[in-house]
Order: sequence, then structure tokens, then C-alpha cells
Amino acid sequence: MAILEVRDVVGGYGEVLILNGVSILCGNNEIVSIVGPNGAGKSTLMKAIFGLIGIRQGSVVFEGKPIMGMRASHLVKLGMGYVPQEKNVFPSLTVLENLQMGAFIRKDDIAPAMERVFELFPFLAKNRKATAGVLSGGGRQMLALGRALMLEPGLLLLDEPSAGLAPQVRDEIFEKIVEIRHRGVSILMVEQNAKKALEMSDRGYVLVMGRNRFEDTGKALLANPEIGRLYLGSA
Ligand SMILES: Nc1ncnc2c1ncn2[C@@H]1O[C@H](COP(=O)(O)OP(=O)(O)OP(=O)(O)O)[C@@H](O)[C@H]1O
Ligand SMILES: [Mg+2]
Repeated sequence: MAILEVRDVVGGYGEVLILNGVSILCGNNEIVSIVGPNGAGKSTLMKAIFGLIGIRQGSVVFEGKPIMGMRASHLVKLGMGYVPQEKNVFPSLTVLENLQMGAFIRKDDIAPAMERVFELFPFLAKNRKATAGVLSGGGRQMLALGRALMLEPGLLLLDEPSAGLAPQVRDEIFEKIVEIRHRGVSILMVEQNAKKALEMSDRGYVLVMGRNRFEDTGKALLANPEIGRLYLGSA
């Protein structure tokens, strides 16, 4: 069974429709990437899945349950995590406080989850007392991932996890994402670094103007010359 099934979703901001019928599947323990030009609606789709904006038509099913109309605060309890494209850490709080905030809805002991986050990101363990705002871009992105992992989600929605990072740091973040998947978390991510993202993805989608344009395995999309020419650039 797919962990997430988005079917023919139409939605946007108020009267402005940005998504004009998008369908996405994320299988259990898959990495699925969504790529496409700026303004295609990729971030809007993530927000729609995570209950941050309304869905006009279509359906979103998470672990077999329809979730349209549910708020983000409810979805996190069901096991969906979301790392937004921007403003994904509290800059004035320390690393440790950010991780604690990530788990604030948990009533049980958060120490084991924190331990696992520190195991995955030794950098965060070492810098637990640092203010998040002074971290490098890569450090901040690790913290954003760590914060989302504090709720031990089954599915993580990642919006441009490598945005603005130098190639070496970007590759490190991608390695961490692969490791997160090995820990049993399904990943649906939007990426500007389309080639890199598709290389590590089981499947991918090219979204254009709020609609599905192509979908296939990551490998097949990479091998498609039309997609290479139009959407993958030289990156
Ligand atoms: N809060 C908002 N209110 C109104 N329109 C918005 C809002 N946020 C985004 N849009 C519009 O929705 C369209 C899709 O934006 P979105 O951010 O989803 O694109 P994207 O595919 O994520 O692009 P990028 O690659 O630049 O991140 C754009 O035309 C954008 O101007
Ligand atoms: Mg975006």
C-alpha cells in the first residue's frame, strides 16, 4: 500500500488556483522526488498535502485514511512530518531547544528520539548549545531535518532540502536523507537539484503549471532526453 496517495488535487490560495489536477503516489519506504520549473506549484502541493492550504477538489489519502481538511497539527500526530522551504528553524533558539520544540506535542519520553537524531547528525550533538541562527546553511538544514524527526514520522515532506547549499554540503544532506529512508521513513521531496534528486529517488514526477507532466522511475526520467533538455539543465 502507498503511504501517500494524492489524486487529482485542485487548489491554491483563495480564488487563485495553482494546482490544476495533481496526482502523486509515495510508496511505503520510497524516496519520491517532485521536480519542475519555478512557480510550477511544487511548494503549494506540499502545503496542500500538509493541510496548510485548502484543497478544492481531489483527494489525499495518508496510510489509507482520507486527510483532506485536516490541520497540520493533526497530521503530525498521524505521523506526517514537513520541512518547509524557508524559515524551518527558530533562529533565536539553540539547537537543543529547536529539537525539543519539534517534539513539544509528545507526552512520552523524547530522549530516545533525541538520541537517534544525534546519532544521525553528530554535528547537532556537538553544537547542541549553539544558537540556530549562527549555523551555516547546511547546519541549519540538518537541524530542520532533525526537528522533524523528533516526532518519528512515517512520512517526511521535504521542500528543497538542498536549496542554497554548496555542492559538498548538498551531497551530505542527500546522504542523510537516504539514511533517514533506511531508518524506515518514506520521503516525498521537492528539489531544484533535479538530477541529484532523481538519482537517489525510486520514482519522480515532473510538475509543470500545476499539473503532472511526466512520471517514472528516477532512472527513466534521467534517461529521457526531453526531460533532460527542458527540466534538468546542466546541474
Ligand atoms: N501565499 C501565496 N499567495 C498567493 N500566491 C502564491 C502564494 N505562494 C505562492 N504563490 C504563487 O503560486 C505559484 C506556485 O508557487 P510555488 O511556490 O508553489 O511554486 P514552486 O514550484 O514551489 O516554485 P519554486 O521552484 O520557485 O520554489 C506561483 O505563481 C506563486 O507566485
Ligand atoms: Mg517552492
